[in-house]
Amino acid sequence: MTVDHRRRSPLGVPFGVEVPDRIPKERYYDADFFEMESDLLWPRVWQMACRLEEIPGVGDFAEYEILDQSVIVVRTAGNEVAAFQNSCRHRGVKVVEGRGKLKSGFTCPFHGWCYGLDGKNTFVSKAKSFSEHNLERADIDLVPVRCEVWGGCAWINLDDTAPPLRQCIEPFASILDAWKVESMRTEWWESFRLPVNWKLAQEAFLEQYHVIETHPELVIPKRFAPRDPAAFDPKSFVDAELHYLHVMSEGMGGMVHANDVAVAEAQRDIELSSDPTQAMATWHASLNDAVVAWHRGRGADIPDLNELEEAGLNETMFYCFPHYFVLPMYSSASSYRFRPLGPEETLMEIWSLTRYPPGQEPGPPQPPEPRAFDDERIPPIPTQDFSNLPRQQKGLHNAGFEYMRLSEGIEGGIANFERTLDGFLAGLPFDQLAAALRAVNVNPLERPVVDLGF
Ligand code: FES
Ligand SMILES: [Fe+2]
Repeated sequence: MTVDHRRRSPLGVPFGVEVPDRIPKERYYDADFFEMESDLLWPRVWQMACRLEEIPGVGDFAEYEILDQSVIVVRTAGNEVAAFQNSCRHRGVKVVEGRGKLKSGFTCPFHGWCYGLDGKNTFVSKAKSFSEHNLERADIDLVPVRCEVWGGCAWINLDDTAPPLRQCIEPFASILDAWKVESMRTEWWESFRLPVNWKLAQEAFLEQYHVIETHPELVIPKRFAPRDPAAFDPKSFVDAELHYLHVMSEGMGGMVHANDVAVAEAQRDIELSSDPTQAMATWHASLNDAVVAWHRGRGADIPDLNELEEAGLNETMFYCFPHYFVLPMYSSASSYRFRPLGPEETLMEIWSLTRYPPGQEPGPPQPPEPRAFDDERIPPIPTQDFSNLPRQQKGLHNAGFEYMRLSEGIEGGIANFERTLDGFLAGLPFDQLAAALRAVNVNPLERPVVDLGF
């Protein structure tokens, strides 16, 4: 099906969101809509291009691909991080592929043109055989791409007119600065090919409404927080808390790190009040303190978790438009990135991040070979999410299904994301997109639909 130009949102976007809590299904498979995103979204946004531990030393590079664009991120001689379009200026060959280490610069494998780590052309073989106009100085250096560093990652933007990174990713950046996310390192990294649209994949993580049905093991039984305080048993409460931490640790593959589960286990015999509110507060505060003390005791950099709690920042998921997540819990975090491979195919990556004593950080993580969505090595909780996705992608093609009916009160994370996307597809200037970006770069869970200013 192609774009029906009779159906446009108030912003004039074909298949745009007309009613904030109703998302037209065509956005998840229509080829023209996908092309609009390719032309109007991806070339204008800051994208997490690689983890900095992938390129620790001078000359280390990592290739970042988005749709048909390939960008080289490289550690330059001055220990800075720079990015270039990955095309030799002679006949367009990609000068690098994947990841690696360069001695002093890039050498194109076709005819041997050379470039420094700063992208400057340093050698053209048989230069005299070229006419002057094909060897103009400014035309034969690698084309630079905007690149900034934040939160342990290198970020790129293909739009030279976009505001600086930080302006586009607040308040996400400030919240995760308070979490000291920049001192986390990759413990493992996996990737998955999902047979669904990138937005559909991402939206499985932009709300919490699905937890009851999809992940019943994550629902804490009510009997541990009973309405009748007299029925409260501190010991059963602690058992349930520890059980939950084990499920999160094993089921999510490390979102709650095994180190922190061990610290929590050591708290098992803590004295707790028989008043449920007090007991819960004491448990959470002392577990936070114990985790912080354990990690500081071995020299790792970790924020005071109770201070984060008081500041209202101790939440378990933060989203950064258009495709990046950090999910912190105690000392560690999961991190997600979603990239479109086609209208109905997505590459999702998961990093497990944690803190190490200085000098004990692991080496650069190995780039993962993408797994199928039903690979049995995937931890149980993402497996549950992935199992719904292909059924959803198929189901929304059916003629009788028109649009997603979102909960205005608790699925606003999805509605706000989709409407921010429409702002880009409508070509709104950055000053008009700023409020939407600030509204969407937050914890998306249990969020209502909010006013985006357009
Ligand atoms: S294409 Fe690179 S040197 Fe010819
Ligand atoms: Fe889930």
